[in-house]
Amino acid sequence: MLVIIRPNKEVASIQAAKIVADQVRRKPNSALGLSTGTTPLATYAELVRMHRDEGLDFSGVTTFNLDEYYGISREHPRSFYSQIHKNFLDHVNIRPDRAHIPNGESKAIAKTCAEYEDAIRAAGGIDLQILGIGRTGHIGLNEPTSSLASRTRLKTLSDETINDNSKISGDIPQVAITMGIGTNLEAKKILLLAFGEAKAKAVAKAIEGPISSSCSASALQMHRDVRFILDEEAATELRHRSYYDRVVEQTKRYAPELLGGTND
Ligand code: GLP
Repeated sequence: MLVIIRPNKEVASIQAAKIVADQVRRKPNSALGLSTGTTPLATYAELVRMHRDEGLDFSGVTTFNLDEYYGISREHPRSFYSQIHKNFLDHVNIRPDRAHIPNGESKAIAKTCAEYEDAIRAAGGIDLQILGIGRTGHIGLNEPTSSLASRTRLKTLSDETINDNSKISGDIPQVAITMGIGTNLEAKKILLLAFGEAKAKAVAKAIEGPISSSCSASALQMHRDVRFILDEEAATELRHRSYYDRVVEQTKRYAPELLGGTND
């Protein structure tokens, strides 16, 4: 695990975008796992800028969104389909047939979920998965007590998530289709972003707590290439803060590519 703590979310988001861009340059046909929510917005904005100003080419890239509310149309402004299009997909050159988002209107849920897993496998697996974290410690919409081996399926949202997400976008459904924790753990690389003090407790549980279905993100401790990119506020509950900073210093010297090649 690499825990990268940056002064604020702007700096952290630019670093995250560099890591994603580096992945796309090294492997132009990468499969990226995309997250919605407010956390990755500045990272997407920076990737859009790199595409526009620096010619970052997404033409070979395949994407898989983590989750989608169930029971609203994809055109609905609150759907994750609408959000990822508005904030990222509509502004880069990812081929529409390679941008996958769970179908929140499916009448055959189990089949839709199994086909989503098949599509990820057919793409060769996810090379780099971008994740946020909920206050409940969820990744995707894997609420507390989700099986750590779970696959894409329908999940019932927790009260906290319904409250948090409704505050941002208005009333939302009580259920969603989400990749499972087992699905996420198979991604070759994982980047988890967390900003703001509201996430500090969940972040500490994920990084330093026991591995437990009470905090889905704690399962990431079992992943061999996970990077947490935090701002100062999200890092306030970490006990080993000074050690993480020293690790990052040494990583800058010996493996700067893990930081997106940044030396700042
Ligand atoms: C949402 C998303 C998650 C996201 C999390 C945090 O429900 N489905 O993928 O990481 O909750 O959201 P935010 O980034 O807005 O805090």
